[in-house]
Amino acid sequence: MDNEKKRIVSGMRPTGKLHLGHYFGVLQNWVKIQEEFESYFFIADWHALTTKYNQTEDMRQNVEDVLLDWLASGIDPNKSTIYLQSFVPQTAQLHIYLSMITPQNWVERDPTLKDLAKIMKDKQENMSNLSYGLFGYPVLMTADILLFNSHYVPVGIDQVAHVELTRDIARRFNNVYKNDYFVEPQPKLTQIPLLKGLDGNKMGKSFNNDIKISDSAEITEKKFKSAITDRNRIRRDDKGNPDNCEVVWDYWKIFGTEDEKQEICAGCTGATMGCADCKKRLVKKINDYFAPIREKREELAKNKDYLKDVIFEGSKKARIKAQEVLDGAEKVIRMYK
Ligand code: TRP
Repeated sequence: MDNEKKRIVSGMRPTGKLHLGHYFGVLQNWVKIQEEFESYFFIADWHALTTKYNQTEDMRQNVEDVLLDWLASGIDPNKSTIYLQSFVPQTAQLHIYLSMITPQNWVERDPTLKDLAKIMKDKQENMSNLSYGLFGYPVLMTADILLFNSHYVPVGIDQVAHVELTRDIARRFNNVYKNDYFVEPQPKLTQIPLLKGLDGNKMGKSFNNDIKISDSAEITEKKFKSAITDRNRIRRDDKGNPDNCEVVWDYWKIFGTEDEKQEICAGCTGATMGCADCKKRLVKKINDYFAPIREKREELAKNKDYLKDVIFEGSKKARIKAQEVLDGAEKVIRMYK
């Protein structure tokens, strides 16, 4: 057992092309982690249905876009198992078992659901419009994770509460069936702080404030022109403060060398460099960094058969491990075998 690699699993909803928040918050971490762990990365298409069940026209394209962003960023199908959630039906089977032992009020405590409930209330919508599937979403996520008896879950900070619930449910399963079958998995976070959108709010596709991995150099430049900077630095010769310039400065923290950061900081606080020049330099660094990734993405996009192959082969591999874990769980429950 000891020389076996530890397992990790993580997923993303197919919401379309990924942005730099995904890249620095999660993807970069995955790329590194896949070297060390037995890794399962999946596209969570069932999770997408929990909220978008009536907007499925982009599903196919979205799945493809996520896969392209992953592969271009360096998730390697020879090192990791890349699969589509709905191609691994053992997920749904495990979900059933877990749903039996999960107290309803544990799910109600889930912060994401609480947020949703609040949004619905604000929109004067009734909580009973919350679908059964959406309500059970944290349990489905638990099934995704326990399906490989994973040790770690590399996610963004926004998902940590879900992993806590997963640990609770794993422990409960073990208690109920007097066993230690499921590992209690732990979240594995990146060190990089959450990147904000260009307007200073949470970065997200729906807020129209994000930069995509796949945006061209020109679009990236254009988008950055609109990025907010230090609001107190109104004129070019006003002295600025990088700490009040969260968006642009946060990117410098990622992309700048120590020397560059010092130079930028001095230029800002001494008003010897304008925001436009600062952004221009930053954008060049971002574009240089993403150029090979964007190029690879374009190449891959031409080969639909290859993309299908990756998903089919990865899902086949995932099903084998998932079946093994499911069989074990059914044995522990004492299902008729
Ligand atoms: N909930 C995650 C998100 O919204 C996606 C997800 C679903 C996930 N199942 C998972 C992440 C299991 C990690 C592990 O982004």
